[in-house]
Order: sequence, then C-alpha cells, then structure tokens
Amino acid sequence: MSPLYHRLSLGIAADEDLLALADQAKRGQPKPNLFLAAVQRLLVETPDHALAAFYPNISGSPAPSDDPAPAFRDFCLERQQALTGLLATRMVQTNVVRRCASLLPAFVYVDDLGLGGALYLIEIGASAGLNMLWDSYGYDYGEGRVYGGLESQVQISSKFRGNQIPTLPSILPMVAGRIGVDLNPIDMNDPEETMWLKALVWPERRDELELLEAAMQAASDAPPKVLKGDAVDLLPGLIDSVPESQLPCLFHSHVLNQFPAEAREAFWTLVEKRGAKRNLAVVSMEGVRRGEYSVVEVTHYRDGVKTNRRLANGDSHGYWLEWLAG
Ligand SMILES: C[S@@+](CC[C@H](N)C(=O)[O-])C[C@H]1O[C@@H](n2cnc3c(N)ncnc32)[C@H](O)[C@@H]1O
Repeated sequence: MSPLYHRLSLGIAADEDLLALADQAKRGQPKPNLFLAAVQRLLVETPDHALAAFYPNISGSPAPSDDPAPAFRDFCLERQQALTGLLATRMVQTNVVRRCASLLPAFVYVDDLGLGGALYLIEIGASAGLNMLWDSYGYDYGEGRVYGGLESQVQISSKFRGNQIPTLPSILPMVAGRIGVDLNPIDMNDPEETMWLKALVWPERRDELELLEAAMQAASDAPPKVLKGDAVDLLPGLIDSVPESQLPCLFHSHVLNQFPAEAREAFWTLVEKRGAKRNLAVVSMEGVRRGEYSVVEVTHYRDGVKTNRRLANGDSHGYWLEWLAG
C-alpha cells in the first residue's frame, strides 16, 4: 500500500466534489487506481504545484508530514477538465514486472507437468507485454537463490515466505513463442503511452519504476508482439495457431478483475473447449477480494482431463511468494 495514496484516499472519501470526479472513470475500471494515476500523470507536467511536494518521485525530496488533501483538492479542481478526459479514455494498465517472480515458479511447474513440447506463451491483458519476457530476466529470491539471466539488465528481487520453497532449475523452461493480447496494447515507442504506464506506479515505489524502465529499455529493440482486441474474441484463433508440437500456455496477471462476469465465463468456456481437444495450461495470478494478496494457480488439461491447483499466495506486486504446492 502506498502511504501517500492511503492518506489521499481518506481525503477523497470525505469530499463530494472529488468523489463525483472519480466517478467519471470508465465503467468497469478500478476507479481509485485510475483517478490517482490520472492525477499523477498531470502532476508531472506541473511540478511547481504545491501537491508535487508530496510526491517524492516528482519533487526529488522527502515528502512533508502535512496533510496532502488540501493541495490534492486544489490540483484536481484546477485540472478538472484534463482529469475528466483521462478518466474517460484511459484504463488501469500497469506492467508490474516484479510479478514475473511469482509467475516463474508456475511456468516451471507447467513445464514439469510434461504436457508436451516447449511453452508457447499467450498473455491475456499483456499491456506492454513486458511480462512475456520473464525467461530473459534474472531473479534473486534471497539466501543465494538466484536464477535466470543474471547478466540481463532486468534483475528482479523477491523472497519466499513460509515453509515450502519451490524447486527451480538453473536453466529456465524453453519458450517456443510468445504473443499477447490487450484491449489497448502499450506502444513502448510512444512517449505518451509510456508516461501513462509510469503514472500508474505508486509514488513511493522507486524500485518498481526503475524495474519498469529497465524492462522497457531491454525490450525496446524487439518489443514483444501484443495484438489489439478483446481476449475472448482473439484467444480461440491464437490457441489454434500454436503448432501441435508446442504447448499453449496462457497466462494472465491482475486482468480478470477487469472482465465483466459474462466475459470471464466466456473465457473459461473457450478454454474448456480447447482443453477438450488438446493439452494446454493456464497460469493465473489474480487478486483476492479487497486485494490483500494474490493467488497463483495453474489449470491444465491433459488428454481432455482438467486439473486445477493453487500453487501459491503472494504479494500482488511480486515482492514475496508463499509456495503451497509441495
Ligand atoms: C492491470 S493491467 C495488468 C497488466 C499486466 N498483466 C501486469 O500484470 O502488469 C490489466 C490489463 O488487462 C487489459 N484488459 C482488460 N480487459 C481485457 C480484455 N477483455 N481483453 C484483453 N485485455 C484486457 C487492460 O487493457 C490492461 O492492460
């Protein structure tokens, strides 16, 4: 939780004008995240405003201990029109690269299932697609547990909690291909798009911003392909186009909460249909209600038989993982 956003949220909740403004967020979008990101996006353009002093990432100095709510209200009312524009058009589109530390053990688990062939990754809600490149990053879970591309410019730290530690290989699973789908793929060569991506990072999370920037830099020459469209429409064709010698490995992190209930149902119906015809796996990392933590699970189909297993609970931004799968 961001301490600044916690304080701002208390101010917003007690202010009818700000609540009405936040209410203009697009239907189905998490309003608090969208509203606070829109404010941060505009604030970087006016770092002289009093509100900027509360954002250490913008001011470059530690935040004062005063109440940020009056400056926040002042800024929002001043930039009401621009805010309304962002709320009506933008979506909550993070690309939280540290989540790869929670996804990695799940991909290893899928690979170990021996469902046939190297993994063909299909990411649902890929945003800029940076998490599809998990196999090129380096990982440090502490206590000497280091894996992956230790020479990569993208180095992800996390830690394991609890009694069980997953066994991870020194050579990561082979990825045969990768493709993402998103309602609005982030074009890493468009500065406005990348500024929006960065505006979604909580102000105190300097490490998260640096990781995002490193991953964008590493991917800039050959960005992963992300198709524009609704996953429910595009997935059947994408799954069917994976060669028989490879394993379709769908994955999503913090995406299904943005699907209306009927779209979630349609998603699982189409997965079931494909799973009846060929082996495939779905790696899921989604938040529990109220967002205290995330659950990592794998659903796989082998010869038409479906198996679902919860592998871990973890921090929703990948800072820790509690392995449950033995
Ligand atoms: C919160 S972001 C998460 C991005 C990334 N998976 C991560 O973990 O950082 C959710 C993403 O899902 C996308 N999304 C939402 N509904 C979608 C749909 N029906 N089809 C495809 N993408 C969708 C949004 O555009 C957004 O980029």
